Order: sequence, then structure tokens, then C-alpha cells
Amino acid sequence: MSIDLTEDTITAAAVAAFDNTKDPRARELFQALVRYIHDFAREVRLTDEEWFTAMDFLVRVGQMSSPTRQEFILLSDVLGLSVLVDLINHHRGQFATESTLLGPFFIENRPRVPNGADISGGVPGVPLFVTGRVLDQDGKPVAGAHVDTWHSDGDGFYDVQMPEKLHDRPAMRALLTTDAEGRFWYRSITPKYYPVPTDGPVGEIMRASERSPIRPEHIHFWLQAPGYDPLITMLFRGDDPYLTTDPVFGAKRALVVEFARHAPGVAPDGTAVDVPFQTVDWTFTLLRQRTVQAA
Ligand code: BEZ
Ligand code: FE
Repeated sequence: MSIDLTEDTITAAAVAAFDNTKDPRARELFQALVRYIHDFAREVRLTDEEWFTAMDFLVRVGQMSSPTRQEFILLSDVLGLSVLVDLINHHRGQFATESTLLGPFFIENRPRVPNGADISGGVPGVPLFVTGRVLDQDGKPVAGAHVDTWHSDGDGFYDVQMPEKLHDRPAMRALLTTDAEGRFWYRSITPKYYPVPTDGPVGEIMRASERSPIRPEHIHFWLQAPGYDPLITMLFRGDDPYLTTDPVFGAKRALVVEFARHAPGVAPDGTAVDVPFQTVDWTFTLLRQRTVQAA
């Protein structure tokens, strides 16, 4: 029984308290967490006040969180943890599209639309025509893949950040399906670089550390097809001034794409457009899921 513990003996006691955890992986996680968090407190000589501040901070992160405001994910993002977990788990190699973080703005409530749809939800902006192709690592089309896409408007706001203006309707997001040649295409409006939400507790961290909250301009994609590893990724605008200072560490050179600018004319889907518009075209490569051989 642990009694009369000291700064030097409490860690072993707290680690041992998890010895009977049946699930070996859960035991490993609990015990490593205890070791690291104790070492952290000892290293920085954590004060009572700092500990209370941290507990209050986490409570406020929880209170801020909702299905449309993922403050805990945002906290993980600005600490670099989300991208680290992605890097640990998704060694995609040179033949598959790089992944990156999900971010807090994906929501389940998005319209399922046919290829060619206008997904802007009526939000005004510079027209954008996105064409994509989904292939496997041998260059064969992946038909029937689910393609989730979402992005901000031209002022850098996602639909979920302006529920009153949009009457809670989803905009600039959709779920599409690739055709027999692995193609998908849609119309929307061009996004813009934007600050990660700073009106919650995570914003306090950004201000205290004088970090730029601006994410470079991007479009999100989440590709899923039976038999393939899901791919969560983004495409970034090449000439974006914030590409190298992403506050959530998600930008990658391999995901930089040209947002081609066009004078009024005919869009890739044959639509006549009477204002300047932009196009993005990209080929995504999925990795086949590794099959685990039964012993
Ligand atoms: C996003 O790209 O939507 C995002 C990612 C991380 C934090 C905030 C926003
Ligand atoms: Fe985003």
C-alpha cells in the first residue's frame, strides 16, 4: 500500500496503481502518461496556482466544445499533437497523397451531392471549379469513393461560424462520389486564409505566446473507399503568404496546388462564367489497406 509518499516515490506508486489494467495497451498508455506528466511537473516545479490555472483552462476548453466547435481538437492542433499523431500513423510513402490534420470544422451534417453541383450554398465569392481524380497506387481509378470536401468563404469563415447568416444551413461543404473513372467535380467559391478560432481558451494561448493564428488558404478533403486507407488531407494555394507559418503545423509542400486564375469564359464543366473565376485540379492517390494474415 502506498503511504508516506515523497516527490521521489509517488511516480512509481501512481504507475503501479494501473498494474491491474486488463487491456495491456490501456495499461501502457495510463502508465506512460503518469510518468511523463509527473516528470513535467517536477521539471517545471509546477506551482499550486499554475495547476489550478491548468485545471480551469481544461474545464473551459470542455465548456467551449460542441459538435460545431471542437476546442479540444483545436488545442491538440496548436500544440502540434494532431500532426504528430498523423505523422506517426500515416507513413504514406512516395506513391500516395500525403495526409494532414482534420481540423475542427468537419461536420456530419453535410449535403450529399452529385458531381457538378454548386456547393457554395449561395455564399457570394469568386467562383471556383474543382476537378479531382482518385487513383490507387497502381494508377487505377477508384470508382465510388466518398469525397468529403469543406472550406471557408472568401473572408475566411466556415459555414458553422456564421449560423445566423446562413440560417444553420450547410455551405461550402459536401459529400461527393467518384464516377467510374475515379473523377469528381464541383463548383464553389474560392476560400481565403483565416485565423484559427481565438475567441475561446485556445486563443488565450495564442495571444500569450504571440503566435500568428492565421492558417494558409486551403480546401479540405476526406476520401474513403472500401479496401483503401482513408485519406484526410488539404490542398494549399502556392502563393499564400502564410504557407510557412501555419499555426497548426499542417501545411506540406506536396499538397501545394495551383489555384489557376481565369478571365470570364467557359469553366471546365462547360458552364459559361461572366466574372473572373479560378480552377483547381488534383489527382489523389489512395493506399490499399494492408491485409493482416491470420496466424
Ligand atoms: C482547419 O483547417 O479547418 C483548421 C485546422 C486546425 C485548426 C483550426 C482550423
Ligand atoms: Fe480549414
